[in-house]
Amino acid sequence: MLAQETIRRKRDGHALDAAQIADFVAGLVDGRWSDSQAAALAMAIVCRGMDAAETASLTRAMTHSGTVLDWRDAGMRGPILDKHSTGGVGDKVSLILAPLVAACGGVVPMVSGRGLGHTGGTLDKLQALPGYEVTPAPERLRQVLREAGCAIVGAHETLAPADRRLYAIRDVTATVESVALITASILSKKIAAGLQGLVMDVKVGNGAFAADLPSARALATSLVTVAAQAGLPTVASLTAMDQPLGWTAGNALEMQEAIDLLSGRACEPRLLELTCHLSARLLVQGGLAPTSMQARDRLQRALDSGAAAECLARMVRGLGGPPDVLRDARLPRAPAQGDVAAPCAGMIAAIDTRALGLLVVELGGGRSRPGDTIDPAVGLSALRPIGARVDAGEPLARVHAADGPALAWALGAAASAFTIQPLEQPAPVALPLVIECLPVDLQAPVR
Ligand code: URA
Repeated sequence: MLAQETIRRKRDGHALDAAQIADFVAGLVDGRWSDSQAAALAMAIVCRGMDAAETASLTRAMTHSGTVLDWRDAGMRGPILDKHSTGGVGDKVSLILAPLVAACGGVVPMVSGRGLGHTGGTLDKLQALPGYEVTPAPERLRQVLREAGCAIVGAHETLAPADRRLYAIRDVTATVESVALITASILSKKIAAGLQGLVMDVKVGNGAFAADLPSARALATSLVTVAAQAGLPTVASLTAMDQPLGWTAGNALEMQEAIDLLSGRACEPRLLELTCHLSARLLVQGGLAPTSMQARDRLQRALDSGAAAECLARMVRGLGGPPDVLRDARLPRAPAQGDVAAPCAGMIAAIDTRALGLLVVELGGGRSRPGDTIDPAVGLSALRPIGARVDAGEPLARVHAADGPALAWALGAAASAFTIQPLEQPAPVALPLVIECLPVDLQAPVR
């Protein structure tokens, strides 16, 4: 089969059959398809789209391009569950959800990624912990899962290798934004991880890849439908990313915020609410709670008793991180710190969330090229939410930078990401935290 004929067919708007898609995926793995041919087909898919059958074929072929994990004989004590987010700013839900669901009886082998564009990556946050190993040998991974119930790690090179190659090509050829390609990319890794249940957190808003509701809805529908066809029960929640999630953005700062929430020291309400919403959906899906209400009770007990915090501590210890992460996480601190002052009194009406994410990247907390090293200490803390009242000069956030010049630049850049309106104007409207659930979760409490 000739690659150029497959590319031509998609370029001209025709559907590809399963054999053509399988040939493309095999060619990605064995090198028969060159980078330029793969990029040309990816661009044709971005421009012409793929129907549901093509998306399902692509997902299936990418899933089976490498090892498909099977946990049946691995002595796991509960259902194999996971959560995946399409990416946002300050989104540290995974760091809290994995141990929380583990403490409620689930087993969470969470395959996570690095930061992408303006969004942070869970692996980068965990690697702010000295010694934390993101690519453990398979036997060690199984042992940590047995002992802690959760392990947040990077994708092993044998897991969906076709996605690994295609993703790197898409990243540098403006071909990320395709519902079919994103669906196959995410689900191939999740199905290959041997999951029994998945909840997708599809972000919407100015800090998300899907800025508007219709495109987020299309992506969520595609993910739920294709996953169901592949035998992976999946639900999706469309959630707000029109402001950072929680008080912090930046790797070490986010890691500490997650530890503080799990240990009951400090808790930003929106972060707790979203984590519990997604965790409750997973518990119901995994048969660990009959209703959302009962799932919520179980989650609260796991937080109050310290069981969830203990699962995090066991996972971090098992993967080589600090032995007592709850008391001494050994996280680095940035040497230059300062507050972003509100230019006038009023109410925070809007936040340019993407700009804040890019600011963290520019401070050194993310990458502009794949191999860049990152500075885990930099970022933002004490972030104020939409609707907060501020006096002139009051802090909107605190900047953590590597040196004085970076701090001075970031203080100005961060201030211009906040829009402040006079108190007399009608109260600003932020997106609801949970916008929509697919399929509709009839047992969820109405908020
Ligand atoms: N995350 C992925 O893993 N793949 C995509 O294509 C987009 C986000």
